[in-house]
Amino acid sequence: MARKRPFRNRLNELSPKEWIKFQKSWFIHTPPPRDRRVKRHPAKFPETLAQEFVEFFTKSGETVLDPMVGTGSTLCACLRTGRHSIGIELNADYAQTAAQVVDEERERLGEPAASLRAEVINRDAADLLELDLPMIDYVFTSPPYWDMLHARGAETQKRRRHVADLDLTYSEDPADLGNIHDYEEFLRRLTTIYASLTDILRPKAYLTIIVKNIKKGGKIYPLAWDLARELGQSFTLKDERIWCQDDIRLAPYGMGNAWVSNTFHHYCLQFRHEPPTSP
Ligand SMILES: C[S@@+](CC[C@H](N)C(=O)[O-])C[C@H]1O[C@@H](n2cnc3c(N)ncnc32)[C@H](O)[C@@H]1O
Repeated sequence: MARKRPFRNRLNELSPKEWIKFQKSWFIHTPPPRDRRVKRHPAKFPETLAQEFVEFFTKSGETVLDPMVGTGSTLCACLRTGRHSIGIELNADYAQTAAQVVDEERERLGEPAASLRAEVINRDAADLLELDLPMIDYVFTSPPYWDMLHARGAETQKRRRHVADLDLTYSEDPADLGNIHDYEEFLRRLTTIYASLTDILRPKAYLTIIVKNIKKGGKIYPLAWDLARELGQSFTLKDERIWCQDDIRLAPYGMGNAWVSNTFHHYCLQFRHEPPTSP
């Protein structure tokens, strides 16, 4: 009888069962409630979500970068899973919150996290090649969803406006990509930042970007698809996973008149740092 070949895992430390679970192209993630300080940030993703990706795309002791780290979710996920991490964030207040949250997480975890690097750098990600960063084993990140935080009518914005202390936009800084109102210009500057990662991302390493298509003025701007196409010139696009949210209340957009969806999914786009193959 032929003997089963042992499972040789070069990418991560998951069992075959855990590996295959992650391969499903969509998932529902129900995060625990958010800490009060990070709620101030308008678009944070859950640490538990970051943790699942970090555990799939790296091994312990490797280094993860988030070039737009917000309040530090990626760095906390890395501390929990024994990875080194670096986060860049333009907004000084978010960078400070991220550093505090990371310090507390490190203290909570104790010895296993004590020697891990988890550094927040308060800079423009457009300058990332000036930062003398080490070789990176994985990038996990999410950009501003164009200038959508300026859309006063958006459902989340309406809800946040009534609560003191919650930010409606990330900043007033012109370097903040969320303040670029021209879609093509936004796409160009965002793609330029991500493309610069090819200089520091280890060959064969992965980049995951969480992003959504944008609905504005009755029109769809396919940000996720545009980014996949544009960045596919610098990295190899390796398919998406779709993050479905089933804990948001439905709104009756266009009811009785027109098709307008409640968009409760994000694309987690996977790219790999390898020479693009010709068709
Ligand atoms: C979608 S949020 C990231 C949230 C983060 N994943 C978290 O869980 O907190 C995008 C972040 O990009 C930051 N940002 C915008 N333009 C930037 C730039 N040029 N350089 C660095 N960060 C930038 C914003 O301040 C915001 O915190």
